[in-house]
Amino acid sequence: MLIKFGILDRRLKVEKVNTGLLPAMLDGRPELVLFPLSRPLSVIELERIRGVAGLLHFCFYSFVVIEKMAGFIDLLKGALPENLHKFIPRSFDVIGDIAILELSPEIWDFRGVIGEAVLRANRHVKVVFAKGGRVDGIYRVRRLVHVAGEERTITLHRENGCVFMVDVAGTYFSPRLSGERIKVANQVKPGEVVVDLFAGVGPFAILIAKKKRGIVHAIDINPFAIQLLKENIKLNKVSGSVHPYLGDCREVVKSHLRRIADHVIMNFPSLAYEFIDVACSALKESGGIIHYYQFGRGEAACNSVVELLTERLKNSGVTSISILNVRRVRSTAPREWQVAVDALIVP
Ligand SMILES: C[S@@+](CC[C@H](N)C(=O)[O-])C[C@H]1O[C@@H](n2cnc3c(N)ncnc32)[C@H](O)[C@@H]1O
Repeated sequence: MLIKFGILDRRLKVEKVNTGLLPAMLDGRPELVLFPLSRPLSVIELERIRGVAGLLHFCFYSFVVIEKMAGFIDLLKGALPENLHKFIPRSFDVIGDIAILELSPEIWDFRGVIGEAVLRANRHVKVVFAKGGRVDGIYRVRRLVHVAGEERTITLHRENGCVFMVDVAGTYFSPRLSGERIKVANQVKPGEVVVDLFAGVGPFAILIAKKKRGIVHAIDINPFAIQLLKENIKLNKVSGSVHPYLGDCREVVKSHLRRIADHVIMNFPSLAYEFIDVACSALKESGGIIHYYQFGRGEAACNSVVELLTERLKNSGVTSISILNVRRVRSTAPREWQVAVDALIVP
């Protein structure tokens, strides 16, 4: 509301302080938040703010001045012709200290300037790449074009209290799935067995082992992914509970992991439907939950994914299907979503 009224002084830092510092306002509250104001409030503004703020005090305070970092977009506005401003990306993915931008063809020739602006506006970013195509192939990786900063593709990414070594060029990794990983991990009980059919560098597997004390068998066909998964098992100290397998999950399940799982994770949205029989064969005789992903289009995205999954499950001969949750995980293209389904199955 202070921002809406144009009263918050954004050159100064909002602070949370222990009330011990401000004895006159103790009021029994352990902490206060101090907002720097650029002018006094009018009576009307004061009334409106009181309505949402509850306890309100005014005082003099020496605020810290924020070191003003010119925003990425402001930096670029001076460097690009005005007719191209609308093509400046409004957001980008950051994996560890590597930023990955999606640039439209209209501003491709300015990629160097744009990359430098990202570096200047985001101190923790050390490397900038532009996407050079779609995520493709069996390893689900994309071509990246280096545009600024250090020339490397490996980084350490922190997420949900875990740390992951990622090679952004040689392995799949999306920071946009961090919330989804928590949703799946929260369904696993301590000691349950999980088979992750398409594990990548291990973001689901390691979170489940570390935070939920699950036992995870993590498979991937990409040797770079398995090499980094092994590093990540060490980095997160979960070597007793995450077991890596390099190979085609169909073969690995057949030879090592039949009828052992309480949960099967199938995060390979473009092709997971081809592996529904594999997931069923990994589940315990008494049944378990599959966490299934697929791309869906339009308003009926969730329904069409559930329909296809149910049909395939019936064709695989499962005796009981119960859909527990269906959700849109993220938008992947205009009117297209990655959809997740948690389904309780008795094979
Ligand atoms: C979309 S990525 C997901 C990776 C990981 N679950 C994550 O969230 O970062 C799909 C992964 O499946 C792997 N993959 C593709 N086909 C496979 C197969 N037949 N068996 C095992 N892994 C496979 C790819 O190498 C890739 O790492």
